[in-house]
Amino acid sequence: MYVCICHAVTDRDVKAAAAQGISCMSGLCQSLKVGSQCGRCAKFAQETLDKALEKAPVAPGKKA
Ligand code: FES
Repeated sequence: MYVCICHAVTDRDVKAAAAQGISCMSGLCQSLKVGSQCGRCAKFAQETLDKALEKAPVAPGKKA
């Protein structure tokens, strides 16, 4: 499912980013550009990231 239409980012992309240690919207924005254009995806992207972080193990050396 698409999370960010402007940048064609899916929930899988967000989950993969979480698994690699990204734990905040600014990190998602830097790595996937989520929310950097129209911004309409920000709330759903945050929810998707939060859910992914509940399930994803924290990468070694990264803060949760
Ligand atoms: S839908 Fe994500 S920036 Fe527009």
